[in-house]
Amino acid sequence: MKKMALLFHFFIFLLLQQLSPGSANPEGDALYALRSGLNDPDNVLQSWDPTLVDPCTWFHVTCDVDGHVTRLDLGNANLSGNLVPELGKLERLQYLELYMNNLGGRIPAELGGLKSLVSLDLYHNNLTGSIPPSLSKLSNLRFLRLNDNKLTGRIPRELTKLANLKMLDVSNNNLCGTIPTGGSFSKFTEESFKNNSRLEGPELMGSVRYDVGSRR
Ligand SMILES: *[C@@H]1O[C@H](CO)[C@@H](O)[C@H](O)[C@H]1NC(C)=O
Ligand SMILES: *[C@@H]1O[C@H](CO)[C@@H](O)[C@H](O)[C@H]1NC(C)=O
Ligand SMILES: *[C@@H]1O[C@H](CO)[C@@H](O)[C@H](O)[C@H]1NC(C)=O
Repeated sequence: MKKMALLFHFFIFLLLQQLSPGSANPEGDALYALRSGLNDPDNVLQSWDPTLVDPCTWFHVTCDVDGHVTRLDLGNANLSGNLVPELGKLERLQYLELYMNNLGGRIPAELGGLKSLVSLDLYHNNLTGSIPPSLSKLSNLRFLRLNDNKLTGRIPRELTKLANLKMLDVSNNNLCGTIPTGGSFSKFTEESFKNNSRLEGPELMGSVRYDVGSRR
């Protein structure tokens, strides 16, 4: 009988723990911070309800078996507003897809904390400021597409350390300085950098083809 009572109390305890606001999910909080920073005229973020235990049931969010967010698929969603530093807390995030929106403001340096990130797609937005050097910490990054924004400043030399980088596009921005060489950058052509009127490159492009006029 005593055992039963103990069991009963244990279940009550579990139930209360589920219901208490203290059980909030930090990744859900990070995503909700993103939602709060955005204008969403098409209501694509309507399912992002912070009172749910975890964000894995929200639309455009994918989780792994452990309930950690691995993908955010919000390309072409008519979103405007700014990115938030809280995004950097999504340690298992592999795909951050926010291309073709109207996002403004800066790329938060905190995105350098996304240590699982494979793909960072922020192309075709209205982003300003410079490319954060902290992105060089993304050792798993394979795709970095920041083209068609209003980014200024130099391309951080540290990015050449991204050994797994297969695709880089920073074209159609307002970057300046010289194009870094070496490391993973040795495989990129001028296509990755074109239409940045103040960006200089030829002398540093080394053996890479630099015949702007020709097309294949
Ligand atoms: C995007 O949002 C604007 C309102 O900000 C609206 O007028 C427009 O129709 C939306 N575009 C699409 C493709 O949904
Ligand atoms: C881009 O930002 C500028 C201000 O920097 C603003 O005037 C313009 O409307 C924005 N464009 C879009 C498509 O959001
Ligand atoms: C060059 O980039 C700017 C953005 O900096 C863009 O507005 C313009 O359309 C681009 N030009 C071409 C030919 O793509």
